[in-house]
Amino acid sequence: MTPTIEELVHALTLEEKAGLCSGQDFWRTKAVQRLGIPAMMVSDGPHGLRAQRPGATDHNDSVEAVCYPAGCAAAASFDPTLTRRMGAAVARHARSAGVGVVLGPAINIKRSPLCGRNFEYYSEDPFLAGELAAGFIQGVQSEGVGACPKHFAANNQETRRMTADSRIDERTLQEIYLPAFETAVRDGEPWTLMCSYNRLNGVYASENPFLLTETLRDRWGFGGFTMSDWGAVNDRVAGVAAGLDLEMPGSEGVNDARIVAAVRSGQLDEAVLDKAVGRILNIVLRAADEAARRPAAYDAPASHALAVELAKESAVLLQNLGALPLRDWQKVTYIGAFAAQPRFQGGGSSHVNTHGAVSALEAARRSRRKLRYVEAFPADRDQRDESAFLQAVTAAEESDVAVIFAGLPEMFESEGADRRHMRLPDCQNNLIARVAAVQKNTVVVLHAGAPVECPWAEDVSAVLCMYLAGEGVGEAADALLWGEANPAGRLPETWPVRLEQTPCYLDFPGDGVTADYREGVYVGYRWYDARHLPVRWPFGHGMSYTGFVYRDAALDQTTLEEDGTATLRVTVKNSGALRGAEVVQLYVSDATGTPTPGGRVPQVLRGFQKVWLEPGQECEVRFALTARDLAHYSAELHDWYAAPGRYELRLGHSSRDIRATVPLEYRTARRLPLTVDENTPLGILLADDRTAPLVRQVLEQNRQAADNGGGDGLMPPDAMAQMLDAMPLRGLANFGGAQAAQAMDTLLPLLRQALQS
Ligand code: BGC
Repeated sequence: MTPTIEELVHALTLEEKAGLCSGQDFWRTKAVQRLGIPAMMVSDGPHGLRAQRPGATDHNDSVEAVCYPAGCAAAASFDPTLTRRMGAAVARHARSAGVGVVLGPAINIKRSPLCGRNFEYYSEDPFLAGELAAGFIQGVQSEGVGACPKHFAANNQETRRMTADSRIDERTLQEIYLPAFETAVRDGEPWTLMCSYNRLNGVYASENPFLLTETLRDRWGFGGFTMSDWGAVNDRVAGVAAGLDLEMPGSEGVNDARIVAAVRSGQLDEAVLDKAVGRILNIVLRAADEAARRPAAYDAPASHALAVELAKESAVLLQNLGALPLRDWQKVTYIGAFAAQPRFQGGGSSHVNTHGAVSALEAARRSRRKLRYVEAFPADRDQRDESAFLQAVTAAEESDVAVIFAGLPEMFESEGADRRHMRLPDCQNNLIARVAAVQKNTVVVLHAGAPVECPWAEDVSAVLCMYLAGEGVGEAADALLWGEANPAGRLPETWPVRLEQTPCYLDFPGDGVTADYREGVYVGYRWYDARHLPVRWPFGHGMSYTGFVYRDAALDQTTLEEDGTATLRVTVKNSGALRGAEVVQLYVSDATGTPTPGGRVPQVLRGFQKVWLEPGQECEVRFALTARDLAHYSAELHDWYAAPGRYELRLGHSSRDIRATVPLEYRTARRLPLTVDENTPLGILLADDRTAPLVRQVLEQNRQAADNGGGDGLMPPDAMAQMLDAMPLRGLANFGGAQAAQAMDTLLPLLRQALQS
């Protein structure tokens, strides 16, 4: 009979148990042969397999694999069914390579466009990132391989990433940096999860009980095992106690010995170690079982076809004044080395060893398109060559359309380093401006893992953003440019006009020791919307070669009760002549007027659905809403809270293109806690329906105090109202004499009573 996990743990020696909590080598857990416990292999990554080649001595020598769109591009699909398919495809390859757990998805929030690893991450918005992550995880695990969402948590920069301390207030952490992980865990049920390198509010993520136990297991119900990012362990014994199960890649026994010593000295409870070992064994045995039951099913050509399909769905048409799609009869010139050597993935641990990439130029040749090509600038550096420029400008002038393939060279963005600015190489900006000056039908195709400043945006006709689209990049660009595919991606992040306008411009990446998240919850569109800042292209934006109309937006009930659900419906119609996709986005805006510590965010994404429609076809899109969709995180309650009152449900094509707004009334008896003393401002008491009647009554009875405290008619009415609003309760005594002072003394206990009931 197969032993249970408990029996196995019981049968292990202390040394074996400590040993199982760290890797055998760079990619494998340890085996315990005498008990039939196998080793398990883990491999990156989030958009294609990076498994060490069998027999290779270099751990970066990996098998050949298909490279799918990187996180930045996959997120632009706005479609969790696609990240699911991608996850399943990566997992099929992983299984055939003997890999038990795939190290992805990478789901940290894009706090600044400069983070060097943004190309791997999904979004500036936690809701979008969470939904896409859950899709990826479900896809991976549907194939009997484990997923590993990473890097938990608040790992939003590469500068000093192994020691930086992310300082974040409670509300911001809960509202912005944790929810994507929560959705990943609750809806994806990943087998494993990877902690990040950095510290969070002073404590390393690898030894953080708040993250690894209280939040992950106690609150979210995570049932898998946790592993360290590679080399993220600081104090191993503290890590085990905090809930970090597996150290990777292992410390050649040094930390195992520390664990043993800590148990022997009584510093670490052996029961805690047993639990960690049990969690690891559970997954290791599950992976072995799945591998034994399922035949290998990796199909390289089908995977490449999927990579092309995903790249098509992920590209975002940012602008189109008419130059796209290209037509067969036009004289077209392709300019820029990215046409021949596209950049389609990022550098670092997610790098896939692929030979399957096809350039746009090669795709055009295969499709027998007639065009001219001028290289004009290199793809790997900022280098200007005047004669090559002249050649490009002349060719553009002689053509009907100029298509410039631009982007960030590899040296501009990578894991391990943040970008220093948000610009394309100067040579590219310069050439785009010069081509646009002679050719009104100029199209720019961008290859970048994150937003870049586009100073020429108003001078060109069209901009197509491929992000880092994986090996399908060229075939997808070809189909999209020539109208054989209809652009369907949406921006998972705001494209700012200038770096100086970004939310954490003054604080990123911090002083090298701490990173203060001073912008709070105002990340991405939350910031630009609150400040009414112009942006180059807003969150959620993306165009199509067809158009869509929205009608009949309505709720099934206009009032939502605390435990209820309201359903919002809207009909969307493809009003153009081509098949296309609309991403219906739902933003919720709190119009209750209730003061919110830390400020109220103008609107937040709470739903999205991508629908493909034939010309003239329409469909109904539905969103189910509960109180949590209206809520913000209250640091006073340590919980999510929605105030009673009016909310606006905004349905739109993007965060700045709202097509229908539906009001919703929310009813709840729940109120934020309020403590009252003689210094509580009257305004606060008058704004709260529990205290307002009592205060109003006392003010009526003590008009003199109210008049004196409120400016006594010497000021404009608004200023007077504000004076009264600011007057502390003791103002009754300060301005109203003995009788008012007595009234205040009686009022205080009554107010406290009213707040308790
Ligand atoms: C990265 C992880 C990756 C690991 C293994 C680390 O440097 O941060 O994302 O999974 O290496 O390659």
